Amino acid sequence: MLEINFAKDDLPQDGVLVLPLPEGAALTGAAAALDKTLDGALGRAIAAAGFTGKAGQSATLLAPGGYKKIVLLGAGKSAEALGGAVAAALAKEEAAAVLAPDDAAALAFGARLRAYTFENYRTTLKDDEKAKLKALTVLTADPDAAKAEYETLGAIAKGVEFTRDLVSEPANVLFPEEFADRLAGLKKLGLKVEVFDESDLEKLGFGTMLAVSQGSARAPRMVVLQWLGDPAHEAETKKGKKPVNPLVFVGKGVTFDSGGISIKPAGGMEDMKWDMAGAGTVSGLMAALAGRKAKIDAIGLVGLVENMPSGTATRPGDVVTSYSGQTVEIINTDAEGRLVLADVLFYAQERFAPRYMVDLATLTGAIIIGLGHEYAGLFANSDDLATALTAAGEAVGEKLWRMPLAAPGEAYDKDLKSAIADMKNVGGRPGGSITAAQFLQRFVNGVPWAHLDIAGMAWGAKDTAVTPKGATGFGVRLLDAFVKGLEG
Ligand code: BES
Ligand code: MN
Ligand code: ZN
Repeated sequence: MLEINFAKDDLPQDGVLVLPLPEGAALTGAAAALDKTLDGALGRAIAAAGFTGKAGQSATLLAPGGYKKIVLLGAGKSAEALGGAVAAALAKEEAAAVLAPDDAAALAFGARLRAYTFENYRTTLKDDEKAKLKALTVLTADPDAAKAEYETLGAIAKGVEFTRDLVSEPANVLFPEEFADRLAGLKKLGLKVEVFDESDLEKLGFGTMLAVSQGSARAPRMVVLQWLGDPAHEAETKKGKKPVNPLVFVGKGVTFDSGGISIKPAGGMEDMKWDMAGAGTVSGLMAALAGRKAKIDAIGLVGLVENMPSGTATRPGDVVTSYSGQTVEIINTDAEGRLVLADVLFYAQERFAPRYMVDLATLTGAIIIGLGHEYAGLFANSDDLATALTAAGEAVGEKLWRMPLAAPGEAYDKDLKSAIADMKNVGGRPGGSITAAQFLQRFVNGVPWAHLDIAGMAWGAKDTAVTPKGATGFGVRLLDAFVKGLEG
């Protein structure tokens, strides 16, 4: 984790210094003064490099004056993206200072998100291959104000990092029980954590979720995380607190998706270690809300299973009874995420009577065909909820694109008709993401609900402004912003 310090914007005399320059690359204020001390070296470097100050541009001066390096960076328009560029430019330095042009806290936030690494399992990295940046000093006119603002942003960054860690872990390390243990660690943030084991789930009658996990040697878990931050609770004792009108978030947590008996092809199957990203995002969100002490009640529920083929696995054609009482003919054991969510969604609304319910899942390959890696799919039975989520995503750069959702029995939904049970678990190839959402909707009971299919967004093949390649943590910031908009 990148350590951030804020300090008054008197320039240091040594070390590594980053100077962001505006479009036009004019040297003003402290940068102009520094240029003078350095006998015009900055101005000459700007001219020699043809530097114009556009976002993404950089030029490095080696050993000017008493410094090790001075890095000139095009500032661009977004402080957060500039922070990302700072972290990327400094990856091989241990420590550095940056002169923040305006929003120092946002710059720090972007730098921290971009500086994320997951190197737990590398033992032979050469020194020059390692990310080294450990501490960044952000120089600003008002360090106290930046620090105060960063308290919240730092908690959100911590949530994103928690999600990225979970999503990055291999499936031999992160299986349902281990996932639940890590969530129990969130108690120290003030979250209430309840873990349901296999026999609890059997007693409840979680028939569709257990049908997914029954082929695995790893036992399933459901974890319920409660953050009760609504100021209405102030007079109550900790034990007596009951959620009021809570926001409820549900995550698909398939710690490995082999497809089960409907087994997936070998190529790329390793990606299915991150089929728990929905649960990872819900977990990181709850950590963020607790970390920044959100003034609202929010509940996170994750269904954790491993989907494996074996002699005890569900067979195509098996019929099971869900927690809702509806029966499902399992045609394809690789359409497992919806079976997990069906039970957890139904439980969530029965127990918590949500104000809004949002689920996140790496649910379908079809959403990647439809939307690529630019937008997550948004399905909602409420226009207000869809609008609020879309706006929150827009604000933080985690974009959603609304997809169709039909009424029960109508277009798409009728593709789920089974010859033997209340429904089957797959429609067909056409509209695969939509029929998956229709399946989920059959377990939603009048609550304003949205489903985010994040299959195309949970993992990135290349670096972007504030997200290094690998686990993105997509959704934590979006949902944090959504929650923020509902806080009193
Ligand atoms: N976890 C997958 C969806 C997925 C695919 C996520 C690629 C991320 C990247 C899901 O469980 C799945 O296997 N879906 C099937 C559904 C089909 C059998 C109806 C799919 O998308 O092919
Ligand atoms: Mn699957
Ligand atoms: Zn899956």
